[in-house]
Amino acid sequence: MQSSWIAILDYGSQYTQLIARRVREQQVYSEILPFETTAEALRERKPSGIILSGGPNSVFEEGAPTCDPALFDLGVPVLGICYGMQLITKVFGGAVKPGAKREYGHARISVLDAGCLFHLVPEAFSVWMSHGDQVEEIPEGFHATARSANCPVAAFCNDARRVYGLQFHPEVVHSQYGTELLRNFLFTACGCRADWKLADWAAETVETMRRKIGGEEVVLGLSGGVDSSVVAVLLHKAIGNRLHCIFVDNGLLRWKEDEQVEHNFKTRLGMDLTVVHAGPRFYAALKGVSDPEQKRKIIGKEFIDVFAEEARKFKDCKYLAQGTIYPDVIESMNPHKGPSATIKSHHNVGGLPPDLKFELVEPLRELFKDEVRAAGRALGIDPVLLDRQPFPGPGLGVRILGEVTEERVRLLQEADLRVKEEMRKLPNYKQIWQCFAVLLPVKTVGVMGDKRTYENVCAIRCVDSVDAMTADWSRVPYETLATISDRIINEVRGINRVVYDISSKPPATIEWE
Ligand code: XMP
Repeated sequence: MQSSWIAILDYGSQYTQLIARRVREQQVYSEILPFETTAEALRERKPSGIILSGGPNSVFEEGAPTCDPALFDLGVPVLGICYGMQLITKVFGGAVKPGAKREYGHARISVLDAGCLFHLVPEAFSVWMSHGDQVEEIPEGFHATARSANCPVAAFCNDARRVYGLQFHPEVVHSQYGTELLRNFLFTACGCRADWKLADWAAETVETMRRKIGGEEVVLGLSGGVDSSVVAVLLHKAIGNRLHCIFVDNGLLRWKEDEQVEHNFKTRLGMDLTVVHAGPRFYAALKGVSDPEQKRKIIGKEFIDVFAEEARKFKDCKYLAQGTIYPDVIESMNPHKGPSATIKSHHNVGGLPPDLKFELVEPLRELFKDEVRAAGRALGIDPVLLDRQPFPGPGLGVRILGEVTEERVRLLQEADLRVKEEMRKLPNYKQIWQCFAVLLPVKTVGVMGDKRTYENVCAIRCVDSVDAMTADWSRVPYETLATISDRIINEVRGINRVVYDISSKPPATIEWE
C-alpha cells in the first residue's frame, strides 16, 4: 500500500484530470474529490497534501464553488492552482479582481522568492496562463513568490501554514518546469514518498478481490479490449474458474478476432470463457438500416440482449465485473460534463434488464488508461494485447457506411487486415493512434485486365492523436500507401479503388460514422 496520497478538490477545470495524472506520474497516488468534501472527511483519510484545482467560475460570483475553510487547519500543505489560488485569497481575506485583460496562453514569469515551490528552477521561465480574475491584494501572512507582466501576483505562499498558490497551470506541458514545481510541492512541502507502483497495486488488488468475492462466482463481459482483459486476468488470478467470461462475437469484429480472443483467454490462460457467435442475429437486426445512429442503437441493444441471455445462465453468480476506469468515474461524478461517459454505454450494465441483480465489482475504478496498461504488464499480460489500438464497441458497424451485411463485413475485414499488415512494418507503427479501413457506400468504375469493373471504394484512415479528442491524419509514407492500395485492389475481390483520408479532427471525426 502506498504511504502518501494527494487529495485534489475539483472546481471544474478541464485540467483537473491532468493534475491527478501528473501527480501519479511522480509515483504518488492522487484522487479527485468533489469540492464540497469536508475537512472532517479528509482528516479521516489522512492525505499528505491537498490541491485545489482551477475552474471556470469567479470566486465572488453568487453560488461560486467554495471550500471548507477548516481544510487549512488539517496541518497538511495546500496548493491552489488558478481558481484554487483565488479561493485561498478569498478564504484568507485578500482581494481578487477581474484582470485588465483575460490572459490565455504563454506568459513569462519572474521568480521573486524561490522558497519551497520554485526551488532549483530558473529565475524566469514561460508558463501557461488561463484566467480572467487575479489576486489584487495578497492576504495577510502571504507574500508574492512570482510575477508576470500582466499579473503582479503570479504565485504566492504562506510558509508558516504551508499554503501555496499558482495563477498558472504547472500541470500543462506548455508550462516550463511544471513538473519541478509539482515535485517540489509533493516531495519537499508534503514529504510524499514515491511509492505508488502499479505492480504493488496489481498484487494488492488480486488479494482485495479474493477477500471481497470470497467463495462467490463472478461473471464478466470480455470484449478483448485492454480494460476487460486486465479485469479478466486480475480476477482469474484472484478466484480462478469461479470467474466466468462471456465474449459476444457480434459479427462486426476484425479479421479472426473471435479466434484470437478464444485462443488468448481460453487456450493459453485456461479461463472459463463462453464465446457467443451472434453475428447472424446482429446482421438480421441491421438489415436494411443505413442511418448511423440507428445502427449504433441496434448494435447496442442486441449486445445487451445477447449478453443478458448468456449471463442469466449463470444463476449462481453474485457479482458482475466491469472494466470501469478512473476517467469514467470522474465523468459520472460531474453531471455538468456532458455525455462523454455514455460513449461505452453498449458495454455497460446500465442497460441490463432488472431481473439480473448482480452486484458490481470494478477493480480498475481508480486507474487511468496508461495505468491499466502498466498494471496489465505487471500481471504478465502479452504487450501485443495491451498496446492494441482503440476499437469502437459497435465495431465494423461504424466503418461500413450504409447497410451492414455479412458480405460487406467480410470485404472490410479483408481490406482492414491488409492495412494493418502493411502499417505494422513501419518503424513508428506504435506511435500511430489508429489505422483502419472504411467501406464506402459507392461503387466506381475500374478496369482489370481488359474488363470493365464496377465495384466498391475503400478508404484508409490513419491518425495521430494523444487522447482521441483531437487528431491529425498520419503522414504515412507513399510507398506504404501504394502497397496497401495494390494489395487491397489485387487481393480483395469486390474493391477496385482505394482512397486516403486527409481530414483532421476537428472538424472531421476519427471514425466515419
Ligand atoms: P471519433 O470518431 O468520435 O472517435 O473521433 C474517437 C475515438 O473513440 C472511438 N469510438 C468509440 N469507442 N464506442 C467506443 O467504445 C463507440 O461507439 C465509439 N465511437 C468511436 C474511436 O475509435 C476513436 O478512438
